[in-house]
Amino acid sequence: MENNKEILIERTKNIFFRRYNHYPDVISVSPGRVNIIGEHVDYTKGLSMPVAIDKYLCVAISKNNKNTIDVYSENLKESYTSKLHKISNHKIWHKYVQGSILESVKDLDYNGGLELVINSNIPMGKGISSSAALELSIVCSTLKLFNVHLKDEEIINRCQRVDHNYVGIKSGKLDQSACLLSKNKSVFIIDFADLSIDYIPINFEKVSWVLIDSGIRRELATSKYHRRVEQCEEAFKILLKENKNLENFRDIDESKYFLIDLLPSKLKRRVTHIISENKRVLSMKNAIKNNQFSEIGNILCKSHESLRDNYEVSCEEIDFLVDSSRELEYWYGGRIMGGGFGGSTINLIKEGAEEVYIELISEMYEKKFNVRCESMRITFVDGVKTIDNIRAN
Ligand code: GLA
Repeated sequence: MENNKEILIERTKNIFFRRYNHYPDVISVSPGRVNIIGEHVDYTKGLSMPVAIDKYLCVAISKNNKNTIDVYSENLKESYTSKLHKISNHKIWHKYVQGSILESVKDLDYNGGLELVINSNIPMGKGISSSAALELSIVCSTLKLFNVHLKDEEIINRCQRVDHNYVGIKSGKLDQSACLLSKNKSVFIIDFADLSIDYIPINFEKVSWVLIDSGIRRELATSKYHRRVEQCEEAFKILLKENKNLENFRDIDESKYFLIDLLPSKLKRRVTHIISENKRVLSMKNAIKNNQFSEIGNILCKSHESLRDNYEVSCEEIDFLVDSSRELEYWYGGRIMGGGFGGSTINLIKEGAEEVYIELISEMYEKKFNVRCESMRITFVDGVKTIDNIRAN
């Protein structure tokens, strides 16, 4: 697995050399991520259990004395040039790049130029956060280039600002936290109220994690995501009027359940998801600690049901993938993963049964929807790595 990362770094370094005639000063490589549990709770100060996976995006960077930013994407085979403080918003990837650069240099008095090469093996648009990996690789490599040391929390905040202020997606901090903070051989619970972390050692030798991509990308996914964020804000305002001491939905324990009955039914369902999902994150911690794979599977399925019925972010194709998997004995459980309205399912499978699972579920999916779904076996890895002193090998 590390191999795949080292090969990508080496290739990126060489592409950089061919383009600029010298090796880069710094390289950062960020993994993509999945989320085991704790979906749609990051923007309400909830709990999640995300983890980085063995797919990577690499950024190589140097300063130049030309006063311009020159950026090349190996995957798109495209480049663009701009001034440091002039935002090129010609294409969406320009916004990510410019936003990440500006967030990195904003406290510096730098008006020179930069050269960047981006190269990735994280499939784009599959819900495994190629965009967070892009933000983080740029921010971490640029900070290193200028010798700026920031706390993890500040790095995450700056990347989130790229989403909010440059790209226009009001996402939470789940994706960037996973890509930055993951540690090999563990998963972690992150508390979005204060970004505190609890690492949990894992022993997943007897199981495999498999993603199944429905191939569904909904045009309105972003606006529907924003609607969920707003609904949570609306619900919280109503609850706050009743109880001024509430800091977040996690304060609603059994003695305060009566409060959610005061909400209109749709908001009540949204909040029911959030309260129950936060609890599932804690149950998942126990199940993982005790290697209870059936229990892990049950928790995943419960999460799916809540995302489908209470939070209403699933769709027919994803429900079909989860429901059809229920028939297969080596499938412990699974659920819709990420922002929703399409995308992928994350599934826990008995070790050794991955191929047969993928084959069968793809067949069933094709029979029903006339299109094959793609799959990905994943391994959990460390977060972002940054290196300098780069030379020819
Ligand atoms: C997207 C967002 C995250 C998070 C998830 C849902 O991936 O970028 O911040 O809200 O959806 O859990």
